[in-house]
Amino acid sequence: MKEIVYLNGQFLPRSEARISPDDRGFIFADGIYEVIKYYGGKPFRFGDHILRLKRSLGEIGLSFDAGGLKEIFEGLLAKNGLGNTQAGVYLQITRGAEKRVHYFPVGINPTVYAFAFDFPSSKEKLEKGVGVITHEDIRWHRCDIKSVSLLPNTMLYNKAVEVGAGECILIRNGFVTEATHSSVLGVKGGKLLAHPLTNLVLPGITRIVIKEICESSQVEFAERAFTKDELYAMDEIIIAGTGSEIMPATSADGNKIGDGKPGPLTKLIQDKFFELTR
Ligand SMILES: Cc1ncc(COP(=O)(O)O)c(C=O)c1O
Repeated sequence: MKEIVYLNGQFLPRSEARISPDDRGFIFADGIYEVIKYYGGKPFRFGDHILRLKRSLGEIGLSFDAGGLKEIFEGLLAKNGLGNTQAGVYLQITRGAEKRVHYFPVGINPTVYAFAFDFPSSKEKLEKGVGVITHEDIRWHRCDIKSVSLLPNTMLYNKAVEVGAGECILIRNGFVTEATHSSVLGVKGGKLLAHPLTNLVLPGITRIVIKEICESSQVEFAERAFTKDELYAMDEIIIAGTGSEIMPATSADGNKIGDGKPGPLTKLIQDKFFELTR
């Protein structure tokens, strides 16, 4: 079956999708993106993703009407036979094509690209957990914008892949911010800790869900940055994201976390998360 993608108002085979080499997404990484997961054809937290999309667009001064995206995404799932499974939709909006100038050109049309893909859960990793590494956070100071400028993220995730680790946790000025494509939460003394929602982290949707689960389960959720040493001494570590879902990290830089197995709070949150999604 030919894969069908969406580009600028049209559904077409991926092999026929074309953009200009002068697209500012290509030249400057001048664009933003979102990834939404569909469980059996139903989007998870669609409204939150659209809100974050609008916020990212606003922060980079890109005007785009987000109405109609739901129909586009459903069209992609249907046309690619992904309506009854776990599927992801990737959406990217760039400022569009124009001769290369550093300011934002006016009057050009944004480039809108979306595709759907098979996005199964990593069952074994969710059950057993993964080892993670840490690295200095070498990204810019607007990590709250879901920008397509992901070179530092890919460089650092690649370091994790090279050593067989599940993620690379980022450290800025001694404090854990997040990971290359997921949020990081620590569990200490029955309480969850996460970096405050500042310019240094992406406001993760999965993290919002975890916070809600904590509230309804009488588990304290504190927004407080923690250090690398505190990370190593956590009872449990959760790597959270649309793709990672609720992933236990059982070691960090070779240091065993807790007893080296997914802990009880992680499992509780996983169970509640699965109830919401499955
Ligand atoms: C840098 C970063 N932090 C956190 C997340 C988690 O966000 P979400 O839960 O919305 O997928 C992501 C997801 O792509 C990410 O790239």
